[in-house]
Amino acid sequence: MNLGNVPPDRTLLDLLREDLRLSATKEGCAAGDCGACTVVVAEAVGDQLQYRAVNSCIKPAHAIDGRALWTAADLAKPDGELHPVQRSLVDCHGSQCGFCTPGFVMSLFALYQRTVAQGQSVDTHTAQQALSGNLCRCTGYRPIVQAACQMQAQTGHAIQEGPIVSALQDLKATAQAHPTYSRPTTLTGLLQARARKPQAQLIAGATDAGLWLTQGLRSMPNIIDLTRVEALQKIERYPKHIAIGAAVNLQDAFDALAQDRPVIGPFGERFAGWPVRQSGTLGGNVANGSPIGDSMPLLLALGAQVVLLAWRKGRMHHRHVPMDQFYTGYRQSRMRPDEVLGWIVVPRPHSKKSAPEWLGAYKVSKRIEDDISAVCLVVQLHLNGDRILDVCIGTGGVAATPVRALQTEAALRGKVWNEATLEQAQMAIRQEFSPLDDLRASAAYRRNLLGQLLRRAWLESTGSTVVRLEDLS
Ligand SMILES: Cc1cc2nc3c(=O)[nH]c(=O)nc-3n(C[C@H](O)[C@H](O)[C@H](O)COP(=O)(O)OP(=O)(O)OC[C@H]3O[C@@H](n4cnc5c(N)ncnc54)[C@H](O)[C@@H]3O)c2cc1C
Ligand code: FES
Ligand code: FES
Repeated sequence: MNLGNVPPDRTLLDLLREDLRLSATKEGCAAGDCGACTVVVAEAVGDQLQYRAVNSCIKPAHAIDGRALWTAADLAKPDGELHPVQRSLVDCHGSQCGFCTPGFVMSLFALYQRTVAQGQSVDTHTAQQALSGNLCRCTGYRPIVQAACQMQAQTGHAIQEGPIVSALQDLKATAQAHPTYSRPTTLTGLLQARARKPQAQLIAGATDAGLWLTQGLRSMPNIIDLTRVEALQKIERYPKHIAIGAAVNLQDAFDALAQDRPVIGPFGERFAGWPVRQSGTLGGNVANGSPIGDSMPLLLALGAQVVLLAWRKGRMHHRHVPMDQFYTGYRQSRMRPDEVLGWIVVPRPHSKKSAPEWLGAYKVSKRIEDDISAVCLVVQLHLNGDRILDVCIGTGGVAATPVRALQTEAALRGKVWNEATLEQAQMAIRQEFSPLDDLRASAAYRRNLLGQLLRRAWLESTGSTVVRLEDLS
C-alpha cells in the first residue's frame, strides 16, 4: 500500500489496527516489552527474503515501507488450513490467551522461516531466544517452547519467495521520497538531510524513540531514518579493529564481536529480547546514552571509539571520539546537533607484552530476558602470569552516565591478582560510585553488586569453576 498520507510518527500497530481495521495484531504494553503486537517483516536480500519479528507498537509505519509484512491473519490458508506454526501450537496445547498468542505465533513464524524452511531443526535454546520478546503471565511457556521445537514435524505452507522478491524490487525502483519521513540510502544524503533539518528526529531502530511516541506522547512531525544507508549497514573487520555501522542491528553487532570474544555471545543475549535486538542498533544504544545502557560498559572496557560525521560547507567531516570521553552528563554527549554517529570502532583482542586479554561481562537485572540492567560490569584484564599488566573496567547503572571505574583500575594495575588485591579493589569500586535508589535496585544493593561482580571476575579469571545463570536449563 502507499503510505503517502500516513503521518511520519504513526506507528505500524496504529496503522494496522486503527486505520486498516486489521485487528489480528494486539496491543499489550505499547512499549516493546510484551510482544503482543509482533508482526513479521521481510526484506529482499539478493534473491531471498530475510525475515524479522518486529514490535509493531514502537515501529513507525514508514520504517517498513518497501518491505513485505505478515500478521497473524496471514498465516492460515484461505480454506482455513493452519500454518505449521499454528498447528504445532494447537497440538502442544500452546494456544493460550487471545492477547499474547498472535504475538507468539508471529515470533514462531519468523523462527520457522529462518530455520525449518531452510531445512534446520529448532532446539530449546534457539526457541527460547526467538520467544524472548514475548511475555506470558498465565499458564507458562513450556508448551509454546515445545511447539517451537516440534514445528518441523508439520508440513506444507512453503512461501513462494520469487514473486515477493520481484514485487519488492519493483517497489524499490518506484519508491518516492516522503516529505516528512526521510529514508536516505547514501551517507551524503543522510548528512545533508541532517544539516537541512536539524529539528527533525533522527532514528535508527526506534526501540528507544518509538517509546517517546507511545509512552511519552510526543509528536515527531519530521523523521530522518538512517537504517537504509548502505554504508552504515556493514560490519568491517580489520586486523586491529572491527568497525560496526550505525545501521547494524544489535544482534548482528553482538554476533560479530562474539567471534573474537565468545563471552560477548551470552552477554548479548541478555540485551532486551529477540525483536528489539533485531531492530535496535548498537549506534542507537550509544547515542541515546542511557546510564543503564548495556553495550556501553562493554565498549568502554574494550577501549572503543565512535566516529561522528557531519556535512559542513559542502563536504563531509568526521572525527573519532574515544568512548570514555564521549559522555558529558546525564544523557549528554560530545555529539553536536548536526552530527550523526557513523561507526563504532572496537579494538580486536591483542596481547600486551605477552599478557593475553581476559574479558568478563556481567549484567544483573530482575528478569533474564527482556529487561534493563540494575548494574552492568565489564572487566578487561591483561595478566602476565598472576600480575595485572593492564585493566579496563566499564560500568553501567551506577552513575549519571556509563563510565569507567578509573580509581579501581588504578588500585589494580601492576598488582598481583590475588585475594588481598581483590579485596582492596572491591573496597575501591564500592567507594568510587554513588548509585541511585530506584525501582530497579537500591543504592546499597548496587554498590554491593559492584564488589561481588568484581569477585566473580577474579574467580573466573583465576580458573575457578563458577555457576553461570545462562548455563542453567
Ligand atoms: C523492550 C525493550 C527492552 C530493552 N532492553 C534493553 C537492554 O536490555 N539494554 C539496553 O541497553 N537497552 C535496552 N533497550 C533500549 C533500546 O533497545 C536500545 O537503547 C537500542 O540500542 C536503541 O537503538 P535504536 O536503534 O532503536 O535507537 P533509536 O530508538 O532509533 O534512537 C535512540 C536515540 O539515539 C539517536 N540515534 C540513533 N542512532 C543514531 C546515530 N547513528 N547517530 C546519532 N544519533 C542516533 C536517536 O536520534 C534517538 O535520540 C530496550 C528497549 C525496549 C523497548
Ligand atoms: S504491545 Fe507490547 S510489545 Fe508491542
Ligand atoms: S498467553 Fe497471554 S498471559 Fe499467557
